[in-house]
Amino acid sequence: MATSTHLILFSALLLAASAAAQTSFRPKALILPVKKDAATLQYITNLTQRTPPVSVPLTLDLGGQFLWVDCQQGYTSTTYRPARCRSAQCSLAGADGCGECYSPPGPGCNNNTCGLLPDNTVTHTATGGELAADVVTIQSADGKNPGRVVSVNQFLFVCGSTFLLEGLAAGVKGMAGLGRTKISLPIQFAASFSFPRRFAICLTSSTSSNGVVFFGESPYVFLPGIDVSKSLIYTPLILNPVSTASAYSSGDPSSEYFIRVKSIKISEKTVPINTSLLTIDNNGYGGTKISTVNPYTVLESSIYNAVTNFFVNELANVKRVDSVAPFGACFDSKNISSTRVGPGVPAIDLVLQNEDVYWRIFGANSMVQVSEDVLCLGFVDGGSNPRTSIVIGGHTIEDNLLQFDVARSRLGFTSSLLFRQTTCANFNFTSNA
Ligand SMILES: *[C@@H]1O[C@H](CO)[C@@H](O)[C@H](O)[C@H]1NC(C)=O
Ligand SMILES: *[C@@H]1O[C@H](CO)[C@@H](O)[C@H](O)[C@H]1NC(C)=O
Ligand SMILES: *[C@@H]1O[C@H](CO)[C@@H](O)[C@H](O)[C@H]1NC(C)=O
Ligand SMILES: *[C@@H]1O[C@H](CO)[C@@H](O)[C@H](O)[C@H]1NC(C)=O
Ligand SMILES: *[C@@H]1O[C@H](CO)[C@@H](O)[C@H](O)[C@H]1NC(C)=O
Repeated sequence: MATSTHLILFSALLLAASAAAQTSFRPKALILPVKKDAATLQYITNLTQRTPPVSVPLTLDLGGQFLWVDCQQGYTSTTYRPARCRSAQCSLAGADGCGECYSPPGPGCNNNTCGLLPDNTVTHTATGGELAADVVTIQSADGKNPGRVVSVNQFLFVCGSTFLLEGLAAGVKGMAGLGRTKISLPIQFAASFSFPRRFAICLTSSTSSNGVVFFGESPYVFLPGIDVSKSLIYTPLILNPVSTASAYSSGDPSSEYFIRVKSIKISEKTVPINTSLLTIDNNGYGGTKISTVNPYTVLESSIYNAVTNFFVNELANVKRVDSVAPFGACFDSKNISSTRVGPGVPAIDLVLQNEDVYWRIFGANSMVQVSEDVLCLGFVDGGSNPRTSIVIGGHTIEDNLLQFDVARSRLGFTSSLLFRQTTCANFNFTSNA
């Protein structure tokens, strides 16, 4: 009797001590380094998860619904907890079902658990998977440098299957979804540390140095000491009422980030396009989204043709060469000068909520060097009647910082950081903890 009372008292003290340790340091922001994979052009980050901790490589998916990882192979953790049917975790995640599993029990296979549909948004493949929680550790940050490591004990994620990894970069074990849901990475981090529902991505064009994702408070300081949070331009984020996932329940909205592009200008002249393609219709078709799983910007055919023809006319004095797939308009790079913001070509503007607010795309983000002598306009034909008319892809957003302020439903963007004499590879990852 005496022994057990003693034990209870002891564990109560331990609990009090660990609660105190958690409250004594509350980070204002967190960071993840992001690498570009040369073979797939995917953006890869590592998240530390499980007990004992494992660094899990993941493809970054800006519009992805949640974190999903392969639990079928190599998942061992003493802190893995499946979400029980009808628990608060299931309802937060919007997972109504109640599942049984007929394979040997283990992570991803438990009875009386709720599930969601992990989605490989690169190959558009989805499957069923168990909702679960495990510990995640991540570096805090002060906006300039990483700080000490912090953890979230019950971080929700979904168990995927090994086959779902097909099409992802070598070694990757899942996808890190930053989308508009209640259980995406930024929203869970914000809830755990009571910081704003806000995050920023700064992807690098280099495959040898790291870009960065910031969760929580700004500033966003890049060497040599440039706080780019001071130069953001804002535009509203638009909700697409119909899910764009590979599989979903009817009534689910899209977890992807859409913005309202009203027109496109090249050399400050409006490109004639069918602007009704730029609004989202009742079936969720049309509009403009930002994606990190599309390496290049994809345009609906009629927009693609109009933009390409207009651009080619504006560059009429430059020698056009044979096109190189997947691009249509390629040029002799010897005839194109080089500027601080990349190849000296006409600027392309995405005109937003009014004529004075536009996202200017310079050569570094519009042109792709496909060989020593050839530069191509880095836009791809998305065919007619695609789900989304304009998908702003990775190459277009590299070395631009994009802040997704979910709480205020707005996107902050910088345009090219090359103008400010820095790049997304210039975050100082040396810890000052
Ligand atoms: C992820 O971890 C692997 C293995 O430790 C490492 O080679 C890679 O550079 C890391 N990626 C990032 C973005 O930190
Ligand atoms: C789940 O329950 C069924 C039926 O009771 C049983 O056959 C199965 O082995 C159980 N699965 C696990 C993973 O425990
Ligand atoms: C413009 O696009 C809308 C939506 O796809 C289509 O219904 C309409 O016919 C198009 N208009 C023209 C002039 O092509
Ligand atoms: C394009 O480059 C070629 C080869 O350097 C040169 O002969 C030609 O004059 C250039 N044309 C223009 C318009 O710059
Ligand atoms: C990066 O940050 C560390 C830690 O604060 C600092 O010592 C170092 O000088 C910084 N590097 C540069 C190039 O400023």
